[in-house]
Amino acid sequence: MSNYHIKHLEEYFQVYRKSVRNPEAFWEEIAEEHFVWRKKWDKVLEWDFSKPEIKWFEGAQLNITENCIDRHLPTRGNKTAIIFEPNNPKEEAQHISYHQLHEQVCKMANVLKDHGVKKGDRVCIYLPMIPELAFAMLACARIGAIHSIVFAGFSSNALSTRINDADCKIVITSDGSYRGAKSIDLKGIVDKALEECPNVQSVLVVKRTGAEIAMKPGRDKWLSHLLDNAYGDFVAEIVDAEDPLFILYTSGSTGRPKGMVHSTAGYMVYTAYTFKNVFQYRENDVFWCTADIGWITGHSYIIYGPLANGATTVLFEGVPSYPDHGRFWEVIEKHKVNQFYTAPTAIRALAKENLDFVEKHDLSSLKVLGSVGEPINEEAWHWYNNNVGKNQSPIVDTWWQTETGGIMITPIPYVTPTTPTFATLPFIGIQPALMDEHGNELKGNQVEGRLCIKFPWPSIARTIWGDHDRYRDTYFTAYKDQYFTGDGALRDAVGYYRITGRVDDVIIVSGHNLGTAPIEDAINEHPAVAESAIVGFPHDVKGNALYGFVMLKEIGESRDRENLRKEINQQITELIGPIAKLDKIQFVSGLPKTRSGKIMRRILRKIASNDVSNLGDTSTLLNPEVVQEIIDQVV
Ligand code: WTA
Repeated sequence: MSNYHIKHLEEYFQVYRKSVRNPEAFWEEIAEEHFVWRKKWDKVLEWDFSKPEIKWFEGAQLNITENCIDRHLPTRGNKTAIIFEPNNPKEEAQHISYHQLHEQVCKMANVLKDHGVKKGDRVCIYLPMIPELAFAMLACARIGAIHSIVFAGFSSNALSTRINDADCKIVITSDGSYRGAKSIDLKGIVDKALEECPNVQSVLVVKRTGAEIAMKPGRDKWLSHLLDNAYGDFVAEIVDAEDPLFILYTSGSTGRPKGMVHSTAGYMVYTAYTFKNVFQYRENDVFWCTADIGWITGHSYIIYGPLANGATTVLFEGVPSYPDHGRFWEVIEKHKVNQFYTAPTAIRALAKENLDFVEKHDLSSLKVLGSVGEPINEEAWHWYNNNVGKNQSPIVDTWWQTETGGIMITPIPYVTPTTPTFATLPFIGIQPALMDEHGNELKGNQVEGRLCIKFPWPSIARTIWGDHDRYRDTYFTAYKDQYFTGDGALRDAVGYYRITGRVDDVIIVSGHNLGTAPIEDAINEHPAVAESAIVGFPHDVKGNALYGFVMLKEIGESRDRENLRKEINQQITELIGPIAKLDKIQFVSGLPKTRSGKIMRRILRKIASNDVSNLGDTSTLLNPEVVQEIIDQVV
């Protein structure tokens, strides 16, 4: 029996049991049989959650691009690796074969090397969803350099923070990016960011929109020219299993974004194995994940997981609403997509549009539908199932995180019976635990608690860049010997998991994690603002939207309130990005606080959600009188 491709429920249970009884033997077999190594490991697993220290396949040597590209060349060289579907449907799609991918990645690696990039260096990539983004990340991996991809919707301030945190000396960007009918001045954002980044020596610029941009002599260079003259082969640098492959920033509930560090071998093995099973990928299928590569979903399931399996993966530059709300369905028909992986927020937005947009397209190629990023509500699940899947394609509601590297709790399509709103069962090798508030594990079924994982899996993030203590404190101190996810979950009568949402101050808006603290800091920088508190409230498309309670320095501040609201959102857009804008802003004369001065967000959350019938005990507050005042003035 091959454990690599699970096809029946009984087989899932058997393989799961094996993976949990003897994880080392299990993962060793998967790693041995399905990947190419320059040197095998000395030890499969070494771990200690109290330090925390986790090492998989220690002593092994490899290059992930040999697994994602070179090894396919003899058998799949002319197969399409990447289908690039541009923002504008009138622009022709590109089919990039494994041979072409190899050549482009090697050229890019040579250019980076010529610009001084070596093994272990950090390279910041700030690009739209164009083929060069894939080439650049793989080129870094080819050199053994660590890529740090920043989602190209982040502001200059967010970008400079990330560049400086990882001490990147080089940035890869483009003149601009398209977003539906609009184009965005990416290079201008980079220029502004670099005013704060004295260590950046080179900026390599892809020409995408043809916009007029400033090029700083000595620092900025057009990439196309360099690539044209670069050599199309590059001997892959051999790295150790535990060498970092990339850094990817994610929001925490407090403080600066966390640069999650993923290692090479474990990440490769786990993303490849999950990709194969969670999407039941078969040779010649076309897989499409609509996420941006700037998020973990794009890293793991547009690039590394699919390419490690020799798959054909779609890279889509556009948005679901351009040129109209049928774009997703048009692309599925055009490229005969077999597996489609998207976010509940996109499904909810498209479900609001006329059904004709879906029905006029032939979606019969679809075999598997995926969902990720936030809980998928029942209504959206049924809409997706009925109208996109025509009740024929199982929906995989996949729960995982930037920190987990790969999918953790999920059905296996055609294997696990699905239930709307349930991510169902742990993936092979994953040992979830639900904990109560006293730190005890809740055994048995029909329990609800905080979701932890009790045993390491190969793609767990190894640290936070430059701050191992924060890594330990955030994930490994809440519950002894457990990785704490920050999510709540329940286990039903048959053992299926449903994720109930974040239990910390991270709010998921349209599938994006937003920490409240950085947004509050951004608001507080407005000269008229004394203090603020952000909470989430339910939103029918975004899942959650942001509600800001803002206290002004001068209570009687006479300025136009609407203007102030605009200025506050402008401030957030500049410091973080438009994704963190507030839907509602209420000016208040005070914020409810405990006697120790902590803002009682629980109360604010209830007020923002219009659920004030049971606010709990407010008598212990320092200023209970503000609660009624806030309720009376709800916007
Ligand atoms: C949430 C995205 C419910 C969860 C891969 C998690 C989900 C956070 C699901 C991580 C799901 C993700 N059901 N909630 N299927 N998938 N989440 O780091 O709160 O961007 O902790 O990784 O998204 O978001 P991140």
